[in-house]
Amino acid sequence: MKTNIVTSASGKANASALFFVKKSIQFSNVLSEEAEKQVESVLNGMNEGPFEDLEFLEIDNQPTIFVDAAKERGISSLDHLRMAAYRLAKRASKRQIPMVSIMLADAAPEQFKSILLGLHYADYKFDAYKSKQKEAFQVTFELVAGEHTAEFKKIAEVAAIENKAIVLAKNLINTSSSDLTPAEFVENANTIAKYTPGLSIKVRNMKQLEKEGFMGHVTVGKGSSHEPYMITLSYDGSKGAGKATKNAAKNARTSSDHLVFVGKGLTFDTGGLCLKPPKSMPEMISDMSGAATVLAAIQAIATLELPIKVSAVCCLAENAIGNKSVLPGDIFTAKNGKTVMVDNTDAEGRLVLSDGLAEAGLIGATHIVDLATLTGAMVRALGYAVAGFFSNDDALALNVINCGEACCEKFWSMPLEEEYADALKDHFADLKNTGSDAGAIAAALFLQEFVPENTAWTHWDIAGTAFVSKSWKYTDFGATGFGVQTLIELARRMSGSSDESEDAANGDDNGEYAAVEV
Ligand code: BES
Ligand code: ZN
Ligand code: ZN
Repeated sequence: MKTNIVTSASGKANASALFFVKKSIQFSNVLSEEAEKQVESVLNGMNEGPFEDLEFLEIDNQPTIFVDAAKERGISSLDHLRMAAYRLAKRASKRQIPMVSIMLADAAPEQFKSILLGLHYADYKFDAYKSKQKEAFQVTFELVAGEHTAEFKKIAEVAAIENKAIVLAKNLINTSSSDLTPAEFVENANTIAKYTPGLSIKVRNMKQLEKEGFMGHVTVGKGSSHEPYMITLSYDGSKGAGKATKNAAKNARTSSDHLVFVGKGLTFDTGGLCLKPPKSMPEMISDMSGAATVLAAIQAIATLELPIKVSAVCCLAENAIGNKSVLPGDIFTAKNGKTVMVDNTDAEGRLVLSDGLAEAGLIGATHIVDLATLTGAMVRALGYAVAGFFSNDDALALNVINCGEACCEKFWSMPLEEEYADALKDHFADLKNTGSDAGAIAAALFLQEFVPENTAWTHWDIAGTAFVSKSWKYTDFGATGFGVQTLIELARRMSGSSDESEDAANGDDNGEYAAVEV
């Protein structure tokens, strides 16, 4: 796919596309008066009902594709635009239309970005393991932006950077586990750090982890022939030091915020000696989604040169069975000094995350966001469309909800219910890695035991949302990239470089469709 942002249609397109919502055309002030009348009569003649889009009609002597962007139950207007753009791109490619112009002169900036992301999503394919790679027909989209051309070009640059990050996360997550071991993940992160100005990397291997007392990684990873690693990536846009952050310097605030992402990076989770049943095992190639997501997000944040200090900690291990595997009942001392009895070797994510949270504290986090495909209980509670999150800080929690909404990623607040905290206590050790029947809450309460003092923290359980086993919205089978955009948006708002930053905490929802009547 190629996109050109132009002020007015070049006349070279083979078809035009118009988005409509409930019989009214959007974004179209480029149409002639006569064409508008034609459109009106077409829409009036349409039956009610879902998705009558993609009809070819002659409007202004041009074959025109109508794209239905009407709201669907539970899907926000912005997300619907993404879905509509995705369908349009798929159809145009299938029908081998070389060039399509989309009339977007009246679109609000966030609507334009949504449409663009929808086109990008349509471009994603993961065929690395197919014996024959099919080349999709390449469509050029001419995005007719009228007087917004300059503004929309800037948005397109940002959307391309964000899309690159989403693609990176999805590729890592979809790669099978024998090809993406912890060491391979480190290789990828090294390459990214090398080619992303302003991004530095520190890698700890098994020996260093053991020496420094990061025993969560050691405990989980020692049963595998692939050794565990912990990666810390750092980007400091707050001071504007160096060439890479020249823009950041310009925007720099005198904030002492240090936002640290922590990602669960189980390159495979067999369950260990508490072996998983075969049916639930193949999906465990995605158990490193948290680590992939934080790596992708920090790459984008550094590339966008956001004026904020951000770090990302990837907790990498393979939970396998071997003659050195951790045994149920084993006790280890975590980095913060608390002792933990491994009650269930399949509850391994929280063990590596205890190290990640400790590392976040050591590097001076003021705000921590951890992402983990942590519990089957969360999948059962909220399914694949909504991520459950926990937080010890109300302002941060509200920010998560608002950023998620702006990025079409749904979050639902879950309680850190203290009544269940006693269930984490062990007879011999301070804690055990299982708790109450409320499995997602038990896991979050366990993590809370390792959050550094006086730090705002939120835990996102993305077990349901990271990976889908049937196609959903604009994602085929596999990784969704969930979380990448919300993390970037969080950094953007915390850095003060978003229009929403000022009222990030007031839950204001009038950003959508400010400029367009729906
Ligand atoms: N990686 C799994 C959680 C998971 C399940 C992710 C389904 C994605 C889809 C995690 O390590 C796990 O196995 N958790 C256990 C914990 C239990 C043993 C306390 C679970 O949720 O069953
Ligand atoms: Zn597990
Ligand atoms: Zn796991």
